[in-house]
Amino acid sequence: MRTIRGPLLGGLTLAASATLLLSAPTAGADQATLRDAGPDRPLIGTAAWGQRDLIDYDRKNPTTYQQLIGAQFDSITPENDMKWAEIHPEEGVYDFSGADAVMEFAKRNGQQVRGHTLLWHSQNPAWVTEASATWTCDEARAVLKDHITTVVGRYRNKIYEWDVANEIYQDTWDVGGVRLRTNSNPFLEACADDPEALIGDAFRWAHKADPKARLFLNDYNAEGINEKTDAYYGLAKRLLADGVPLHGFGAQAHLSLQYDYDNGLEANLERFAKLGLKVAITEADVRIPEVEGREPTDEEVAEHTNRHVKLLKACLDNEACTSFTVWGFNDAYSWVPQTFAREGWATLMTADGQLKPAFYAMVDTLEDAVTPRLPKACDKKPELRPCSFALPTPAGRANR
Ligand code: XIL
Repeated sequence: MRTIRGPLLGGLTLAASATLLLSAPTAGADQATLRDAGPDRPLIGTAAWGQRDLIDYDRKNPTTYQQLIGAQFDSITPENDMKWAEIHPEEGVYDFSGADAVMEFAKRNGQQVRGHTLLWHSQNPAWVTEASATWTCDEARAVLKDHITTVVGRYRNKIYEWDVANEIYQDTWDVGGVRLRTNSNPFLEACADDPEALIGDAFRWAHKADPKARLFLNDYNAEGINEKTDAYYGLAKRLLADGVPLHGFGAQAHLSLQYDYDNGLEANLERFAKLGLKVAITEADVRIPEVEGREPTDEEVAEHTNRHVKLLKACLDNEACTSFTVWGFNDAYSWVPQTFAREGWATLMTADGQLKPAFYAMVDTLEDAVTPRLPKACDKKPELRPCSFALPTPAGRANR
């Protein structure tokens, strides 16, 4: 255990009043942040909802949550802002306000952005749902191509990874078992005769619109080796054999303590990496069942911590793992209570602003993974970070 653990919010209040917060507020010498504690890879990210959390961003006067996520993370995933319903609410009408707010916030805080998402069965606007009832495959393809070209093109060169296809496979317990969602995804449904051709083209259109972005498949229940990830593995091989610009596989990692932890994560990431793909943990959170109205037990807290560390380690230990993203940084901003009855306590910070043991354990895990190296910015900006300085002992290390 590290002995020095200053109250983070106190530190941030000081930082906020003292500086303009153009970049991440620097933590005190004894106060590591997730973004600074570890090696250059993976990027450490969080989801943030531009329309809710960042639209009012004033860099001279950021909210506490904005200060926190600006200080702690290398990467932001727009939680909802780039989904169809928000960014393309009417036929021919795009609304980039939430997505632009995310881009602006990230730029001001020296952060990268993970795009999410282009082909999904959920959070589609009413016009898509209605029109898709009569779509031919050609019509569906034209609508999807326009959308991908417009959205990816707008943020060309500004997004390092895109979840092109999200949750395109059903689960074992769905009617029909693990198979492409040709019943619930309007685009796959219209092209049910050859859904893989549509998926391949979605990647091709995205690649054309932004050749530098890495393009991902992404799903939940996709951590270990199971029927669903077997299906993805087969799909990835076929797409690659067809020359499709597929670059990565993302495991969302929405975990719940009511289910056993899947120790197959490392092996699963490794098999995708062996195909030449990058991998990522894209939406990590660890929810506790029946926690509404009470504090979690010590055992639950320990397991919440343990699982965050295991997920992070699996990413750190695989060189192909580019990013590790948590799905929100504070329980008050988490999607969990609205989605899973009576479950909660899923993020790294309590609703009243207390950092949880999982946060500190992640910082420790990141620090442990650092091997001596020069900061990557030193070549570009030696005046800011001289290349010749001696590496200090990481904060807290002497106290273990
Ligand atoms: C969730 C958001 O967090 C919520 O705000 C929204 O109401 C529903 O979607 N898998 C995904 C994410 O890929 O886009 C989902 O995000 C969570 C599950």
